Amino acid sequence: MSDAVIDKQQVAASFSRAAGTYDQVAELQRNVGSNLLGRLPDTVQFEALADIGCGTGYFTRALAQRFAKPVLGLDIAEGMLRYAREQSPSGLAWLAADAEALPLRSASQDLLFSSLALQWCPQLPLALNEAFRVLKPGGCMAFNTLVAGTLVELREAWQAVDGFVHVNRFMPLPQLQGILAGAGFASWHCEVEMHVLHYAQLSELTHELKALGAHNLNAGRPSGLTGRARLRALTTAYETRRQATGLPATYQVAQVLLFKGLDQV
Ligand SMILES: C[S@@+](CC[C@H](N)C(=O)[O-])C[C@H]1O[C@@H](n2cnc3c(N)ncnc32)[C@H](O)[C@@H]1O
Repeated sequence: MSDAVIDKQQVAASFSRAAGTYDQVAELQRNVGSNLLGRLPDTVQFEALADIGCGTGYFTRALAQRFAKPVLGLDIAEGMLRYAREQSPSGLAWLAADAEALPLRSASQDLLFSSLALQWCPQLPLALNEAFRVLKPGGCMAFNTLVAGTLVELREAWQAVDGFVHVNRFMPLPQLQGILAGAGFASWHCEVEMHVLHYAQLSELTHELKALGAHNLNAGRPSGLTGRARLRALTTAYETRRQATGLPATYQVAQVLLFKGLDQV
């Protein structure tokens, strides 16, 4: 996310709590992660692979299957790793780790994959520095992240109710592109996909965000209970956006490929 206001302990605790419910509501996450998988070059033979922010391990297992190699799943949330280990065959390895300080040797990985995790890093450039360091020359980092415009309907509906930050902040695309250009990789590619989900009721969206562990964790969020009157005002504001298919919730997903040059150490 764009501002350094994310408390990593809270992020880890929130995703750990969500480990048991995440897979039941992660349809969008499956779709955008699968689209990222589909973008991986299949001309390259990857030997050492890691999934950063692996969550319940769905894509860790998918990578292991696709490349017929053991994959290392890394996540900051111990609860997610426990769940992932329980759901997975024994050949995979799991490690508690922060994407901004990877406990991996330099030039040790051929492929780093990361789906919908890096928007939780307060300092994306740090995470990309780490990715560059641990990749072998010729290695590839494939990640996706949410950019500005994501959950814009919820943000604007809250704006109509009060001035607090109720929705996680997402980086504007030009800022992301600037970071990618400055990350030192030999080449990079970034494409944005828009996904619009629809809900019968606002409560379905807010419950889903909670079940994913992805509800608002930004500093500046209001503390205490959300009063009934404010929730009614929020519902009224969101209802003005209702379409024939329901209440829309937009996600803007940047799909990114970064390549470390064969001559880069
Ligand atoms: C939305 S989930 C995505 C999980 C999985 N990649 C998927 O697509 O289903 C985000 C994951 O990123 C992890 N995460 C958040 N910040 C992290 C960090 N700084 N380092 C490593 N993992 C992090 C969370 O614990 C969570 O499991």
